[in-house]
Amino acid sequence: MSHSSDDPKRRLTVRDFLEMKSRGEPLAVLTCYDVLFARILEAEGVDLILVGDSLGQVVLGYDSTVPVTLEEMIHHGRAVVRGAPHTFVVLDLPFLTYQVSTEEAIRNAGRALKEAGVQAVKVEGGSPDICEAIQRMVQAGIPVMGHVGLTPQSVHSLGGYRVQGRGEEEASRLMEEAVALQEAGCFSLVLELVPGDLAGEVSRHLRIPTIGIGAGVECDGQVLVLPDALGMNPDFQPRFLKQFAQLDQEARRGVRQFLREVRESTFPGEEHTFGEGK
Ligand code: KIV
Repeated sequence: MSHSSDDPKRRLTVRDFLEMKSRGEPLAVLTCYDVLFARILEAEGVDLILVGDSLGQVVLGYDSTVPVTLEEMIHHGRAVVRGAPHTFVVLDLPFLTYQVSTEEAIRNAGRALKEAGVQAVKVEGGSPDICEAIQRMVQAGIPVMGHVGLTPQSVHSLGGYRVQGRGEEEASRLMEEAVALQEAGCFSLVLELVPGDLAGEVSRHLRIPTIGIGAGVECDGQVLVLPDALGMNPDFQPRFLKQFAQLDQEARRGVRQFLREVRESTFPGEEHTFGEGK
């Protein structure tokens, strides 16, 4: 197991993430939504788990993250925490649970920590309102991860899932938002679908670690959506994605084998069948 702490049972903290950045040690982050994969991620030493609201698309079958509710996030967050009790877990606050008012944002972030048992929350965007809500959450003792670039909860106003921060104006706005989020108290920042050079510039400029998805190798860490990274969604092949396994093929092979053996009456065999005495 590889984990950035000497003691694999010690959960990393926000201070560890800052120290990893200053040592130039990349943070390896994956999303997760259930206990089975949470156990695997913890055993293999992932630095941080994100219970992303990508849950909506990759697990619940919605066509965007917009319909995801806080109850759904908490339900899956609890399963992940049960499977990875020694790992730092961040839970995405879903659409409209932190944008309406600062008070609601704090209450909902508090629910994530109290009811799901996660260590931090993530919110999207870098507007002054979002930064104010983040500041208050941090004052209340809630660690917050920011997220700029492509922010999927705003897919309808962004006009689709496309690269953000291209051109001078967009790039300087993204840099301003990143700095504002750091000043608001975020302990780390996701950069999604951002040109590699800009992501590198933002990463060098900030004290807090950046975690890229589709943002090149110069970020301080990388995150992927787990089912995409493991090839469970074989038709989803954007440029930024690498499939590190082909689980869809392996799962199909297993299902076909089960169907064949049941239909041929070769399963269950004698070794799977209880007798009188044993
Ligand atoms: O919801 C999610 O999985 C995310 C990652 C893509 C960073 O926000």
